[in-house]
Amino acid sequence: METILITGGMGFIGSHTCVELMEAGYSPIIVDDLSNSSIKVLDGIEAITKKRVPFYQLDVADFEALAQVFAQHTIDAVIHFAGFKAVGESKEKPLHYYCNNLNSTMSLLKCMDRFGVGRLVFSSSATVYDSMHHVLLTEETERWCTNPYGWTKFMSEQIISDHVATRPDASAVLLRYFNPVGAHESGLIGEAPNGVPQNLMPFVTQVAVGMRDKLSVFGGDYDTPDGSGVRDYIHVTDLARGHVAALAYAKEHPGCQAVNLGTGRGVSVLELVTTFERVNGVAIPYEITARRPGDAPMYYAETRRAEELLHWRAERSLEDMCRSAYHWQRKSMGLWEDPNERTR
Ligand code: UFG
Repeated sequence: METILITGGMGFIGSHTCVELMEAGYSPIIVDDLSNSSIKVLDGIEAITKKRVPFYQLDVADFEALAQVFAQHTIDAVIHFAGFKAVGESKEKPLHYYCNNLNSTMSLLKCMDRFGVGRLVFSSSATVYDSMHHVLLTEETERWCTNPYGWTKFMSEQIISDHVATRPDASAVLLRYFNPVGAHESGLIGEAPNGVPQNLMPFVTQVAVGMRDKLSVFGGDYDTPDGSGVRDYIHVTDLARGHVAALAYAKEHPGCQAVNLGTGRGVSVLELVTTFERVNGVAIPYEITARRPGDAPMYYAETRRAEELLHWRAERSLEDMCRSAYHWQRKSMGLWEDPNERTR
């Protein structure tokens, strides 16, 4: 049974990956500083898997603290999620983002080197592509970022790739996620943003439960089928399974490889909203407002490389994403499971 260190394992994607790893027979260890997550996530993972995952609260940029974890366990591979991820905040506090996200990547690589761990899966993002000028994004599409958060993903990819090139046996897979949404089918783990959600799906689920009055649809005059922005939404469980596939690939293939994780299908904001309303039987009031600065009109993933190299493809539908996101939102608030029970 391989032991996998998961940095940022208490976050949205990290926690779902932890569950899928355990179901695939791996033994994960989580390190997380809890700066944007809660210790309660560990209970959620335990409730699903019936196992308690070893957890260390530390900042990955703290090399000595991280080295202690490597000294205590025989680690076979690492999945690196830890990092700040809010696009807007990164424009206000660029140094905060560069220091945190780059120092943690470098501290981790140094630690892996010291302890002879050569296999890494990195949590990157479609944000590294120049999506203002390209719609179908392949791994070879020109890269350009519009905010410091994006540049930290771009630069971390470069640092990892340069480092792996110096180690003949080392391997890294840079997973470029499209738009992860939804939640584990149990409703026991999910996305828990602090404050006002900046991303579409968590905002929609908060409108659905009455926490917010209405959704602002950012832009209704894009050159897209219905005028609203188009993205490639992917169920977080599918995304998590992509990490399991990437670990297996990296074991057999030295070198560094970038791979998109998306469905290959573009969905507009309005299509997501109407699908959510239909499958959950709930109204999402919205108004069309100005475009959000920096937003691309439309992009989605070319998924061939993931299919060919990782033997992975997304399986869950937009309906599944909307259903599971709403289920998690209600369950985490202690609302009834069955919407009909509200009237009893
Ligand atoms: N949107 C709204 N209203 C909202 C929030 C979003 O209309 O309240 C729209 C956006 O304009 C966009 C779509 O919904 O058209 C998706 O927006 P998100 O904020 O959910 O996601 P983004 O595509 O802007 O960015 C996300 C992540 C980034 C990541 C990127 C990678 O937030 O971290 O996907 O593709 F880098």
